[in-house]
Formats: sequence, structure tokens, C-alpha cells
Amino acid sequence: MNFKQDLRWSDVTPQHLFLNRRQIIAAAAALAASPALAAGYSTDETPNSFEDITNYNNYYEFGYGKEDPAAYAGALTTSPWKVVVDGMVDKPGTYDLGDLIAGLPIEERIYRFRCVEAWSMVIPWQGLQLSSLLNKLGVQPGAKYVAFETLVRPEEMPGQQGGSIDWPYREGLRLDEAMNPLTLLATGLYGKPMPNQNGAPIRLVVPWKYGFKSIKAIVRISLTIKQPQTTWNMLQPNEYGFYANVNPQVNHPRWSQASERVIGAGLFGGRKDTLMFNGYGDQVAGLYAGMDLAKEY
Ligand code: MTE
Repeated sequence: MNFKQDLRWSDVTPQHLFLNRRQIIAAAAALAASPALAAGYSTDETPNSFEDITNYNNYYEFGYGKEDPAAYAGALTTSPWKVVVDGMVDKPGTYDLGDLIAGLPIEERIYRFRCVEAWSMVIPWQGLQLSSLLNKLGVQPGAKYVAFETLVRPEEMPGQQGGSIDWPYREGLRLDEAMNPLTLLATGLYGKPMPNQNGAPIRLVVPWKYGFKSIKAIVRISLTIKQPQTTWNMLQPNEYGFYANVNPQVNHPRWSQASERVIGAGLFGGRKDTLMFNGYGDQVAGLYAGMDLAKEY
């Protein structure tokens, strides 16, 4: 995969999307202050349009249709926002989001995004490395996993008034996956605060895993010894495993994962082969050395 060190979303974004100059300047300052970016984590592929990224979403708290989140998530109150930190951590507590991430560098990263439904996009995120937050909180020896939960607020999230999901939406990572520098807690995209339908005010982004790992609207982060339960694994364990690594060789029981439909490339234009670990193998394959990824899917 081609990583291009200096590409910013501003290199590939039409001028009219530069809405909030103050925020862009702040992001640029954070970038300048962040040596981590020198390693170059962004793909040089062209991002999808803001329109595509914010109107074709999965967010079952707001309905099952791809356009439901854009239609209904606007009503969600995202400020104030509290995050509970608990489990095997030196500084547990209930934090105001601003306090929780204060002082942590926000970076811009253009990542591939591969949905388990065999479609893909390229998304320019802003976010902080999850590792920077975990280091600030102090992970205790013995912790092996990080568990996340989404807000439960049925009065603002109509999808939570019924359906088959046992709310809250939950996800988890092994600690070494969480500490990998690719793993972000994203706070925005295209230089703007995170749109509600994409998981405001803060959501996970793990680019080598299927999109469902990227839990939105996080209100709880727990450091655990035991592998946490995850929403899709609880719903359909034979279809969605804990790891959820993008793997073109392991088909979903009901469809192939060998290729993906590229959103925004037109009805007939865009299919491409899916890459192992979504193209991030150089960075993450070592995490799974010795595991049988057909069994641990
Ligand atoms: N997070 C919550 N809380 N609820 C959800 O339904 N859907 C997941 C994931 N995070 C989901 C969620 C799925 S299936 C995908 S593919 C991605 O969010 C979609 O992210 P996007 O809408 O920003 O593309």
C-alpha cells in the first residue's frame, strides 16, 4: 500500500469545504507539534466526498437505512459529553470529554474504510491516537482488552426504542491492537467537528478491521482482563467474530469478502479487490502472528 507522508485532506479537498479556518489552523498546529505524523499513516488515495461520507452510514441507534443517520442523528445532544473510564486503569473516573482528551495531539489521517458489507470509502479523519489517551490514563499490568460502549438515550436515538440489539452498542480491542499507532479516537472529519451521523463527539477508527469495530458516540472505556462482549458477535457469532480483521480469504457466511464496491465511483465503475488487513498489513500483521485467522475471524 502507498503511504504518502505529507498528504493532507487539504491537498485533495475542494476549497468550499474549508469552512472553519480556526479549526484548520488549530489542527495544523497540532500536526506541527506531533512527531508521530512523520511516520506517515495516511493513504494517498483520494478521499470520498463529504457528501458520501455523511449520507451513507451505519448507525443502528438511528435506524437501519443508510440515510437514516443523516436524517435523524441531528437531534442528538453531544455537549456536554461525559465518558466513564473504569477497570484496570490508574485514573478511573467520569470525565468531561474536553478534560479527558486535553493536551493530546489531534492528527489528520486519511484512512481506507472497509465495511463488512463489502463496500469501501476513503475518509480524512481528525483524531488522537488511542494509545496517547491510554498512556495518559495509566493502563495497569494485567489489563488485556479495552472495551467501549455507546450512549444509550432512546429519547434521542429512536433505534433504541426497539429492535434486536441489546443496547448499548459495544465493541472491544485487544490491548496491543488498541495501542497500535493506527488506532484512532476520531473527533472530526474533513477538518470539521465529527458530524453526528458519523459518531459525534468521539468514535473509534481501526482501519484494518471491518467498519463495525468503529464504535460511535463513546461514553465508556473499560480496561479488562477478559475479552469483552461485542454487539455483532452477540447478535450473530457465526458471522461476526471478535477480531473482525479485513480478510479477503475468509468469506462472510452469506457473501464473498474478496472484493469491495467503492462508494462514489458510480454504479458500474467501482469494484476492487479487498486487501488483507485492508492494506495495513505492514503495520499490523505482526499482531496476529501464530493465529489461525480463519478460526479467529
Ligand atoms: N456504532 C454504533 N454506536 N452503532 C452502530 O450501528 N455501526 C458500525 C460502526 N459503528 C455502528 C457503530 C458499522 S456497521 C459501520 S460500517 C460503521 O460504524 C459505519 O461508520 P460510518 O457511518 O462513519 O461510515
